[in-house]
Amino acid sequence: MNDDVRKYIYGALVVFLVGVLIWVGIVYINACGFTLSCNRGVRVVDTTPVPTMIPATLPALEKSGEEASASEHCYVAAADLVGAWVEAGASDTESFEFTDAAERTCEASFEDVQPLFVQSNLWYAGSRSCVNCHSADVAVSSAQLDLSSYEGIIAGSRRADEAAKGMDILGAGNWESSLLYQFLSETKAGVPGHVEALSGLMISAGTPLSDITATPTP
Ligand code: HEC
Repeated sequence: MNDDVRKYIYGALVVFLVGVLIWVGIVYINACGFTLSCNRGVRVVDTTPVPTMIPATLPALEKSGEEASASEHCYVAAADLVGAWVEAGASDTESFEFTDAAERTCEASFEDVQPLFVQSNLWYAGSRSCVNCHSADVAVSSAQLDLSSYEGIIAGSRRADEAAKGMDILGAGNWESSLLYQFLSETKAGVPGHVEALSGLMISAGTPLSDITATPTP
């Protein structure tokens, strides 16, 4: 007798639970179909047509001449630095002199110039590096120009293969008539990588030759 009642209670419970599961299942499949990646229940995000947050942009760092002279590096337009290097004979070992934005005489070397060709996000926000297109493999590189190494820069553009010498991009030492000057200072409509102006970038590079406080060597 007692056992029968227990059976009825358990039976009713099981039937109830199975019923609930089937009901939830029907509701789910009805809404989502046979999938586990259903997000119909996610709250819809309301957006207003008026932007409520100001996009985070950093203005270019403007340094005055005085601020620049206080630093241990010189402050110069990137294109002018490359120009000074070209005019001084484009050496990979010897240093060259240039005048910076604070009218100081400064000294730099090829090591200061090379990063300008290999760094991305440098000439303008989101810019690709020169090497991204002008890579060491002249078979695929744009204008068959390899800007990834000193040898590549000197070998020039439009090269038939790795061993070939191409067109001088350094204007035989005459900066303003060089191809490199042209492609750094002018915008070239329709040429990827050269659509945006590259001139105007100011960088810290080299060391001032004047007003260095001499530190006595022990
Ligand atoms: C998105 C790819 C791309 C990037 C990045 C790029 N270039 Fe170019 N560049 C080209 C293409 C394409 C040409 C060839 C234009 C043509 O055929 O007239 C070219 C041409 C040149 C030329 C002229 C070569 C010649 O013989 O006509 C020079 C110099 C040059 N680029 C230098 C640079 C420098 C320096 C940088 C980095 C500041 C740079 N490029 C970044 C694609 C790029």
